[in-house]
Amino acid sequence: MYASLRKRFRRRDFLSMADFDREEIEGLLLFAAELKEAKKRGEAHTFCAGKSLAMIFQKPSTRTRVSFEVAMFDLGGYALYLNAHDLQLGRGESLEDTGRVLSRYVDGCVIRTYRQEELEEFAQVATVPVINGLTDWEHPCQILADFLTIWQSKGRLAGLKLAYVGDGNNICHSLLLGCPQVGISIHVATPARYAPHPLVVERAKKLAKDTEVEVGEDPVQAVKGADVVVTDVWVSMGQEDEAELKRTVFAPYQVNAALVAHARPDYIFLHCLPAHRGEEVAAEVIDGPHSLVWEEAENRLHAQKALLSLLL
Ligand code: CP
Ligand code: NVA
Repeated sequence: MYASLRKRFRRRDFLSMADFDREEIEGLLLFAAELKEAKKRGEAHTFCAGKSLAMIFQKPSTRTRVSFEVAMFDLGGYALYLNAHDLQLGRGESLEDTGRVLSRYVDGCVIRTYRQEELEEFAQVATVPVINGLTDWEHPCQILADFLTIWQSKGRLAGLKLAYVGDGNNICHSLLLGCPQVGISIHVATPARYAPHPLVVERAKKLAKDTEVEVGEDPVQAVKGADVVVTDVWVSMGQEDEAELKRTVFAPYQVNAALVAHARPDYIFLHCLPAHRGEEVAAEVIDGPHSLVWEEAENRLHAQKALLSLLL
């Protein structure tokens, strides 16, 4: 399986959830599940032996940083954590020049930054694969882990209903672009002024063949009959100035026991983390029996190992 998948993925970028099609996402998840088993059995899986990965972070991170670093270690490669403030980037060197130079040293780059355009410009000049480690627009690596979690818990992806309640942000965008590809119907509920970008919704609807893409303001409507309920922080990194306003506007969108009572009795709850109990999610939900958030966080490692083994 690895050889044929690798032919398809090798040296490509992963900037958006829309970059991979259904067959590619499903192949990657199967491979991730194999790598997860290999690690549990203590078997070597050094698919990136002798390879190195540069990871540029312009924002803080726990999961993305650690899962990529450990992924490269497990795969027999080497990862460099580069805090943007400590690079010449912090003194005004352009992201493009940084990309040109890093491409001469490493076999792949992960970038966490603000604007999606910055990531795209970096990828344009870089001659090695570039991976989106989160922008304000998308967080596709998170959604690979979410799909692995959903698939391993429900035994399938196609035919499920996923409800996303909260901010129409990067997580919401990547879910909108990923769910239709794997046959999951997605229902989004956000306050009107924090709706996902219309371009993303339009693209999601084009990608949807036999699935629903519904975007509205009513959380109960979105969660009704859902197999998977997802939320994310109300105040994303870089939005701290809006914190007070957002906490007021989003109050009716908290994922709590009353809201999830509308989901299927066997629903699962996902959150990319970090979480704010008492804001976007009540402790009774995130710490309750339907929550798979720790499995989801672990799956970042396995999904990204598959990604790195195939792209680098
Ligand atoms: N979910 C996620 O990307 O977490 P970090 O911000 O800790 O990397
Ligand atoms: N929407 C959040 C996700 C964090 C992983 C943020 O951008 O801060």
